[in-house]
Amino acid sequence: MVVSDIYAQLFTSATINSRKFIYTALFIFFMVANIAVIGMQWGDEGKGKIIDFLAEKAEVVARFNGGNNAGHTINAGGRKIILHTIPSGILHSKKLNIVGSGVVVDPKVVLDEISKLRKEKIKVGPENLVISEDAHIVLPIHIEEDKKTGGKIGTTGRGIGPAYTDKIARIGIKARDFCNRDIFKKRFGDEQFYDEYEEYASSLREFLANTSLIINEQIDSGKKVLFEGAQGTLLDIDHGTYPYVTSSNTIAGGVCTGLGIGPKKINSVMGVIKAYTTRVGAGPFPTEIFDSYGEKIQKRGNEFGATTGRARRIGWFDALVGRYSARLNGTDSFAITKLDVLSTVDKIKICVGYNYKGSVITEFTNDISVLGKCTPVYEEMDGWWEELSKVKNLDRIPENAKKYLKRVQELLGTPISIVSLGPDREQTIVLKKEFLF
Ligand code: GDP
Ligand code: IMO
Ligand code: MG
Repeated sequence: MVVSDIYAQLFTSATINSRKFIYTALFIFFMVANIAVIGMQWGDEGKGKIIDFLAEKAEVVARFNGGNNAGHTINAGGRKIILHTIPSGILHSKKLNIVGSGVVVDPKVVLDEISKLRKEKIKVGPENLVISEDAHIVLPIHIEEDKKTGGKIGTTGRGIGPAYTDKIARIGIKARDFCNRDIFKKRFGDEQFYDEYEEYASSLREFLANTSLIINEQIDSGKKVLFEGAQGTLLDIDHGTYPYVTSSNTIAGGVCTGLGIGPKKINSVMGVIKAYTTRVGAGPFPTEIFDSYGEKIQKRGNEFGATTGRARRIGWFDALVGRYSARLNGTDSFAITKLDVLSTVDKIKICVGYNYKGSVITEFTNDISVLGKCTPVYEEMDGWWEELSKVKNLDRIPENAKKYLKRVQELLGTPISIVSLGPDREQTIVLKKEFLF
């Protein structure tokens, strides 16, 4: 049979299903249909900003992990919004925002977030926000427990760890049951928080949905979807610097379990990485800076937590961390953020290896007893003095900043698709369109 015959057969006598198959195959072959946006360090890489930027061309934004330990900052239209549970697509009208089953939801916080957004005249309703019936609920007992026990790790104190603990121990409460009056009363009728939380349940009910069904339908019908990661790869429960981690899978693998989709539906992975490194809370951090360079970067980068207001620890860019994260996530391209913060830093260091017991390691290790004893091997580069916040294309970036980007890309072994030069949507340069919608 010649090719034209095959085509003729497919397009005339073939079933609708096989046509649909061909259209879908062509679509997937020629363009990025969905992108997982994942933190490549210890969180706060600027995921919120990048998601908001990409969301303009997306139709769906879906959170798959974490809870309101996340703080995703969006600067758009002259206002600054910090989101904790609600996906970062909410500022764009007519996008569907999904909170998947892998997220733990504090009803009080999410309802407060909704009312704050509404005060800002941002439309939020069941038509643009759906929450998984299978998501577990954060209760006051979880927050109390976290406040008692989270100190050593330096948790956000939001009850996230204890809520996931109950989920895994099979004693947690899903949103579906929380919003079912009879079940909730039966389980928590005698608790002090019952009346208050009964009210939250009533308000939350209209947002609950079978989100796995919805997102699969959206993907299958060719909608452009962003999967929004919370935290960062080094905070992943399995692959991070345990026990100094959060309690969920923060890596791209978490998209499947946290949303209920198959792995082949993740089309592309974009890693968000800062031009330097930060970490909030305790745990080893080989490139941490303790001198005035650290203070300068902290000030210029306004490195204070979006959730707890804590000062973020500052470190130089660590190529081992970047490569490790690229491997764990299958990162296709990097969005590098906060390059503008490094202007006026006269000497910039990049970590290219760790000294450990007299030899040099070039692969990251999440074994904290080793990592804690590693000291960085640095390359030093000359900085630049020009401010970058108004730069609109790569040609206008000072030579030394270009060299820095080039070296970072080389060390990561993965292309940089986006460079972010400020918190606003407009302060973004696209270098490689093929990794975007
Ligand atoms: P996320 O948790 O990954 O979404 O990041 P956060 O919102 O917690 O922290 C990132 C901070 O950096 C926020 O205050 C952002 O507004 C800000 N930000 C993001 N990208 C840039 C950038 O390229 N330059 C500067 N100066 N700030 C940025
Ligand atoms: P986003 O999404 C930075 C850190 C905490 C602590 C550890 C465990 O904004 O990037 P947890 O409360 O999760 O049990 O705390 O994880 N952490 C974050 N650090 N950004 C975050 O989220 C974080 N979420 C949790 O500081 O060290
Ligand atoms: Mg944050």
